Amino acid sequence: MAENLLIAEGGKEQKYALLYKQIAALTEGESDTIANMANVAAMIHFTFGFWWTGFYRVAGEELVLGPFQGPLACSRIKYGRGVCGTAWREQQTQVVPDVEQFPGHIACSSMSRSEIVVPVWRGEEIVAVLDIDSEHLATFDEVDKEWLKRIVALL
Ligand code: SME
Repeated sequence: MAENLLIAEGGKEQKYALLYKQIAALTEGESDTIANMANVAAMIHFTFGFWWTGFYRVAGEELVLGPFQGPLACSRIKYGRGVCGTAWREQQTQVVPDVEQFPGHIACSSMSRSEIVVPVWRGEEIVAVLDIDSEHLATFDEVDKEWLKRIVALL
């Protein structure tokens, strides 16, 4: 695995395709989940220049902040709260084009305008969520959803 992140020219599909390959190579050689989450957050973040990219891990009845890139964030989120807690409860990826329209959205940063949260599964259980925030409206769509699901499946 090269130490430098390669970023593809072209659109989102091209960028995700190359990102996926690099994440697959990296996670194949490393068994520690936290180390992998840390590098995955960094690789996604710097490929796309998102506002905030990181993981919250399931700990009892709460999500606890894990590895991330970006500004200071909330440390704990209760089950079912905000976009992250909703993804955990509903066991479904949440794509939020405008966070102000999402009931109960937790504003860790007033810069965040749209968001995607993807559950991370270990067998039948959700063990974490990947949360990405954008400072632009409607940043995330089906393309992000599909690739990010594939990426977290590597963890
Ligand atoms: N907005 C998220 C909280 C986490 S931060 O934005 C990093 C939510 O509503 O779950």
